[in-house]
Amino acid sequence: MNTSEFGLFGLGVMGKSLCRNLANNGFKIAMFNRHVDGVEVDVAKNFKAEHPELSEAVAFDDISAFVNALETPRKIMLMVNAGKTIDYVIEDLLPHLSKDDILIDGGNSNYKKTKERFEYLKSKGIHFIGTGVSGGEEGALKGPSIMPSGDLEAYNNVKPFLEKISAKDQNNLPCCTYVGPEGSGHFIKMVHNGVEYVEMQLLAEVITILEATGHNLDEIANILETWKNTANSYLLEITIDILRTKEGDDWLVKKILDKAGNKGTGNWTTIASAELGVPSTLIAAALFARYTSFYKEERIQLNSNFKGGTVSDLQLSSTEILEAYQFARIINHYQGFKLIAEASNKFSWNLNLSEIARIWTNGCIIRSTLMEALVEVFKETTNILTNSQLIASIKHYKPSVKKVVSQCVLNDITASCLGESIQFFNGITTVDSSANIIQAQRDYFGAHTYKRNDDDGVKSHHTIWNKTN
Ligand code: 6PG
Repeated sequence: MNTSEFGLFGLGVMGKSLCRNLANNGFKIAMFNRHVDGVEVDVAKNFKAEHPELSEAVAFDDISAFVNALETPRKIMLMVNAGKTIDYVIEDLLPHLSKDDILIDGGNSNYKKTKERFEYLKSKGIHFIGTGVSGGEEGALKGPSIMPSGDLEAYNNVKPFLEKISAKDQNNLPCCTYVGPEGSGHFIKMVHNGVEYVEMQLLAEVITILEATGHNLDEIANILETWKNTANSYLLEITIDILRTKEGDDWLVKKILDKAGNKGTGNWTTIASAELGVPSTLIAAALFARYTSFYKEERIQLNSNFKGGTVSDLQLSSTEILEAYQFARIINHYQGFKLIAEASNKFSWNLNLSEIARIWTNGCIIRSTLMEALVEVFKETTNILTNSQLIASIKHYKPSVKKVVSQCVLNDITASCLGESIQFFNGITTVDSSANIIQAQRDYFGAHTYKRNDDDGVKSHHTIWNKTN
C-alpha cells in the first residue's frame, strides 16, 4: 500500500534523528537502509523497534518496496555521505521512480555537484532539491536549520514537511526557507560550516589564552559563563559543558589528542573563496590551524629545536579577551556573509542575507545572539561593517584585540584567527595599500602591466624598468 507521505533514505546519525522528528510531527514515513551482509542488517527494522514514535513508520531494506510504499509524487530525502555515494544512490533509485517524483539531498554535498544533479535529474523528469541541514544529531531530532534550494515548484511540495520539522526562530517561524536556485542551499551550508570552523577556533584560542593567564578549566568555564550575557552562542554553551566534563578528577578534554579532524566542508569553503576571489581569511586560518594540528609529531620535534624557555607573562584581563573574541566574531560573520553575497552576485542567485541569518538564529551550529542581530542589520545593508552599531562595537573592541594579539605574539602563543581578524580588518580599512609594489614587481618580471592612480585608471601601462639583475 503506497500510503507513506515521506521517505527517508539512509539511517545514519542524522537520518535517524530526522525520522524520529518527522514521526513526532505526525507524518507517515517510510524508512530505508541498505542491507550489507554482516555489516548493515535489518537497520531500519531494528531502528523502528527501538522507538515507539516510529510505530506507524514502515521500515525497508529493499529499494523497490521502499519506493512503492510512498504516495506519488514521491518525496524521498537522501541522508547519505556526500560525494559519489549520492550518485550511486540516485542511479539505484531511478528505475523505481515516476515522473515528478522529488529527491532531496540533505547531506553536506558540494554545491557544484548539486547543480549537476539538478540538471541530470531534470532530464529524467525527476525534481531535485539540495538542502543544507544543520544542527547535528540533536538538532536533527528537535529541529534543525534547513536550507533548501533548487526546484521551487518541488520545494512547495515538500515545504510542509521541512518547515514542520525545522527549528523555529524567536517569532516561532520555521528556520527553513527556500534559499534560491541551483545549489545555493548547499553553498550557504558550506559557508555555515566555514563560519563554524572559525567560531570553534576562536573559542579554542581564547581558552588557550585564559589558561596562559593562570586560570584552570573550571575557572575558565565560569568566565565563559559570564560571556553569555553579551556573546552567547550554541558553541559557547557546549564549550562550557566540555570544559566542565570530568573523567574522575581530570578534565576529559585534557585527555583528547590535539589533532583536529574535518570532513571537508571548511576545505570547500576555502576553495570557493579562492575561486570567487573573496578574502575569507579567517575561514582559511581556521582550516589551516586544523591542518597544522595534524602535524603532531613534527610539532613535538620542532618544539624541542626552538621553544625552550618560553615563559608566558600575559598581562590580560578576561574582559580584554572577551572583547578580542567579539571583535573577531564580527569579522568572521562579515567575511562569511560577504562570501555568500559575492556568490549570489556571480551566480545571479539573488540571495536574501537577512532571511539566511534568520534561519541561522536557531537549530544550526552557529546560532547566536550576534546572528539574531544580523537579521535586522541585513535588512538595511549587505555589508555589516557599515552598520552604525557594529561600527561602534568594532571601535570599542579594537584596542583589546590589538593588545591580546600582540601579547600572544610576545609570549609565543598561537592565536591564528584572533591575529588574522585584526590583520584583515586593518587591510580592509586601509586606503593606500602596498599592492602598488606587487603591481610593479609583476610588471618588472612579467610585463603584466599596471593601472595608474594619476590618470583615468583604465589604461594599462608597462615600464621598461632599470634592470640591474
Ligand atoms: C552541522 C555540522 C555538521 C557536521 C560538520 C562537521 O551544521 O550540523 O556542521 O554538518 O557536524 O560537517 O564538520 P567537520 O567534520 O568538517 O568539522
